[in-house]
Amino acid sequence: QLPSVSGEFRVAKAKTAFVCNDCGADFPKWQGQCGECHAWNTLSEIRLSAPAGKSSGLRSAGRTGFAGSVATVKRLEEVAVVDLPRLSSGFDEFDRVLGGGLIPGSSILIGGHPGAGKSTLLLQTLCYLASKHSALYVTGEESPEQIAMRAKRLSLPTDQLQLMAETDVDAILSSAESLKPKILVVDSIQVVHSETLTSAPGSVSQVRDCAAQLTRYAKQTGTVLILVGHVTKDGSLAGPKVLEHMIDCSILLEGDHDSRYRTLRGQKNRFGAVNELGIFAMTDTGMREVTNPSAIFLDRSEHTAPGTTVVVVWEGTRPLLVEIQALVDDSSLGNPRRVTVGFEQNRLAMLLAVLHRHGGIQVGDQDVFANVVGGVRVMETSADLALLLAVVSSLRDRPLPRDWVVFGEVGLSGEIRPVASGQERLSEAAKHGFKLAIVPKANAPKKAISGLEVIPVSRLAEALEACQ
Ligand code: TYD
Ligand code: MG
Repeated sequence: QLPSVSGEFRVAKAKTAFVCNDCGADFPKWQGQCGECHAWNTLSEIRLSAPAGKSSGLRSAGRTGFAGSVATVKRLEEVAVVDLPRLSSGFDEFDRVLGGGLIPGSSILIGGHPGAGKSTLLLQTLCYLASKHSALYVTGEESPEQIAMRAKRLSLPTDQLQLMAETDVDAILSSAESLKPKILVVDSIQVVHSETLTSAPGSVSQVRDCAAQLTRYAKQTGTVLILVGHVTKDGSLAGPKVLEHMIDCSILLEGDHDSRYRTLRGQKNRFGAVNELGIFAMTDTGMREVTNPSAIFLDRSEHTAPGTTVVVVWEGTRPLLVEIQALVDDSSLGNPRRVTVGFEQNRLAMLLAVLHRHGGIQVGDQDVFANVVGGVRVMETSADLALLLAVVSSLRDRPLPRDWVVFGEVGLSGEIRPVASGQERLSEAAKHGFKLAIVPKANAPKKAISGLEVIPVSRLAEALEACQ
């Protein structure tokens, strides 16, 4: 006879589960391949904390939402909307990426390669914030002496900031409960561990569980939580994918080792727009904001060279002028190279096909290299036309005038398609002293912009003709 299903039976003995490191799916038993994403050898065991009156510890860890509130059903209009006051980080560039500042109760994840400047940026932010709000910096990677030395070298105000070297999540939470900081930084989440779990620090279960505990604390107390996260070689966050669901904002700090510029890019933001770009320079006195980025990316030499054009790209809520370079050279290979830095490579191949078919220009026997100057990554299609004109300029060894600017998307049938915010792009170009703009017909301004001649084009052939 089957046992009757009583309350006691439902609180079963399931104390562990197996989670996929890639997609975060969970399974009751170990298996070689994840049933959800079909990745091999990605399951690892996690221990479920005892469910306190809730259905499952695993579920509640990730999806608590505003924990502690009693679930009642309301109509959407009945939900009281409080205009959340935002705390300024002291950096306008950082605030803009966050959507206007730090929101109490939100959790923010900052990812980046080692040496990108995460710790430096947060130390500067926190020293600034500590003069107005209580702030706690938990470091698991550096000693308090190292941090103090860095703060001293950067001449930061150190009198208010509270510092703690700790990696045990329970100790971090109990200190936070007694100090009640308004801002809590944990550098980094990968070194934090919990004594109640048997797995090693940095493992999926540890990161997942500790992050869940910290974000729950932040939500319940209205603390701003900033977690630092490491990224893998391909730029994705190391550790479980589920982490990205738990946090409200995910931000990536990027920059080449040989460049002093760093870009801060929002990848997910529950309180603002993503793909905002904040630009910083790493100097000998720490991170400095770059308030006029167009000026640095356009820092051009006096003489004009074939193969360069300037494009106005749109980054989040503002225009940015960047220089594009192309080099076309006779190829000795049967399969000529198409190499891009800062662009998508497949897009270059596609554009070259359009150039041949609709512009009558053949580069099939040439190597084509394309580069965005200054280490910026251009993901917008508005750079299409500028890229093609740079290729043609290099092929013909004929430079375009220095004060020309180009933007527009190139379609597969050779048409030039309009892009968003054409007017603002043109104003930015005029502000930087450009004299002539080649733009899609639909982006031609209704009112003339003083000092800027506009050539509207609707076909690729017209654009090529304008450059003759
Ligand atoms: P850091 O903030 O430690 O990086 P992360 O925490 O992301 O790993 O930054 C370290 C790098 O920044 C290091 O390579 C040296 C450089 N740096 C400067 O150039 N100037 C400075 O004032 C500081 C503090 C660091
Ligand atoms: Mg660091």
